[in-house]
Amino acid sequence: MKVTVVGAGAVGASCAEYIAIKNFASEVVVLDIKEGFAEGKAMDLMQTASLNGFDTKITGITNDYSKTAGSDVAIITSGIPRKPGMTREELIGINAGIVKTVSSSLLEHSPNVILIVVSNPMDTMTYLVHKTTGLPKNRIIGMGGALDSARFKYRLAEALEAPISDVDGMVIGGHSDTGMVPLTAHATRNSIKVSEFLSEERLAQVSEDTKVGGATLTKLLGTSAWYAPGAAVSSMVQAIACDQKKMFPCSAFLEGEYGLNDICIGVPVLLGKNGIEKIVKIELAEAEKAKMQESAEGVRKTNSLLTL
Ligand code: 2OP
Repeated sequence: MKVTVVGAGAVGASCAEYIAIKNFASEVVVLDIKEGFAEGKAMDLMQTASLNGFDTKITGITNDYSKTAGSDVAIITSGIPRKPGMTREELIGINAGIVKTVSSSLLEHSPNVILIVVSNPMDTMTYLVHKTTGLPKNRIIGMGGALDSARFKYRLAEALEAPISDVDGMVIGGHSDTGMVPLTAHATRNSIKVSEFLSEERLAQVSEDTKVGGATLTKLLGTSAWYAPGAAVSSMVQAIACDQKKMFPCSAFLEGEYGLNDICIGVPVLLGKNGIEKIVKIELAEAEKAKMQESAEGVRKTNSLLTL
């Protein structure tokens, strides 16, 4: 499998590193516009191959999309990350133009590619790619929910004082500080609802900490996080590469599912060789349905800032 990562910044390089370490891809091409930057990142990563035990070939290229030709999956991480105090939505002015150009350049050389959108505001960037490329909706996947769910599980394990491997949970809705919908009623510890172990107040705190998980890290780091985003992307790409039909919450184009139309927002999907194999319908509690509708309104508001 050939994978392209556009953007050799911290997130893009983490995507490349974790994909390589999982050793399911034959080749990862990292592309950046900054002269020599992707080449340097790729070379540094390749010098970990003998230590981390992978055979994936990582190459870097400066702004030459011909080298990405024939990619099966391409990950769009390019654009500016947020600074402390910024919302993801504030990035739209700069990132929309970049994402539009990048997706078009990728498709020129890889007409059958599956696109994974990471650049923020992610749900709106995913929608932009839909509207500007016309690709089938199963081949455009927004990465947000996989990351938010990982943060949800981190917070649940912290509250439960349990190992992460005992915990399961999912976050759907918009990938925004206010729009995420952590499904606390479905979360479990070894198949037992976490509400058996945690008070309503503590669960509410877990939800709130999850929703601002990105902003919390941006405040600490001075820029957006990169390890967990990279790990989330690599798990999604592995599900595609290995045709796992694995469930992830991803930003997907909806046509009536969850009562929503003409929007990209986080919903449970099965990922396999065709990208989004299926959008999974789960029964939501009334409160969760209301939060999902509210989240969609927030995404639509950001979408309205696009000039398509
Ligand atoms: C995050 O939440 C970058 O949006 C990404 O860390």
